[in-house]
Amino acid sequence: MTEEGKQYKIFGRRKGKSLSNLQKEYFKNYINDFSIFKTNDDGALNLRKINPKDLFDCIEDIRLEIGFGMGDFLFEKALAHPNVGFVGCEVFENGVASLLAKIIKFRINNIRIHFGNCLDLIHNFNCLTLNKIYILFPDPWPKTKHKKRRFFNENNSMYLCSLLKKNGTISIATDIEDYANQILGIMQSKDNFNYIDSNFFQTEKKIKKNLDTKYQQKALKFGRKINYLNFKKND
Ligand SMILES: C[S@@+](CC[C@H](N)C(=O)[O-])C[C@H]1O[C@@H](n2cnc3c(N)ncnc32)[C@H](O)[C@@H]1O
Repeated sequence: MTEEGKQYKIFGRRKGKSLSNLQKEYFKNYINDFSIFKTNDDGALNLRKINPKDLFDCIEDIRLEIGFGMGDFLFEKALAHPNVGFVGCEVFENGVASLLAKIIKFRINNIRIHFGNCLDLIHNFNCLTLNKIYILFPDPWPKTKHKKRRFFNENNSMYLCSLLKKNGTISIATDIEDYANQILGIMQSKDNFNYIDSNFFQTEKKIKKNLDTKYQQKALKFGRKINYLNFKKND
């Protein structure tokens, strides 16, 4: 496999326990309504260039979460900010099913989902279109031989950063010190980004108490220090 092919590969779990009958029904009936790319008859995604603004009606502020897990953060944000458009991507079927169920139950209309590899999304979004990007507890791949699998690398960060508008922010949380340093190194080498020393989770928590994600809860339970890294684009 080429180096580029390896970087495109998804290494984590795509399925967990079987979906409930209700979740299966939601998937069958609604996933296309909230999906960014429609599925062709052969099951392949119909990838195309997109301006994320076109996914919503008259919304200017568009934010992206990569690897939303069970979707708790995205859901709470969408509920709290009905005039903001939220785009989430996730490869884990159970996570997508969980978010979809909440979207339907609470009649949320400001979330769009990409169920698949986030690279398909970030390679197809127009540049300078996003206000914020969140990456909360990306898969850590702590073993030396697996570090190449980490999502936040030079190449992916270049695409991500190009999507942000001026003054846009990228917020990343990780409980892996070594990954935090890697992220800091990559971001500090970019001339047009400044590190902002703010715990974006804490600020949000003042507004809504249980904004934690599953992996934030895990980190806190095991007493691990969480690094909140926040960067702002200055041109
Ligand atoms: C450690 S989990 C964190 C989940 C959630 N953000 C949280 O804090 O609970 C990382 C998530 O990223 C997702 N993920 C990993 N690689 C991905 C990719 N290439 N595209 C989309 N999602 C991805 C995984 O499926 C997993 O749910």
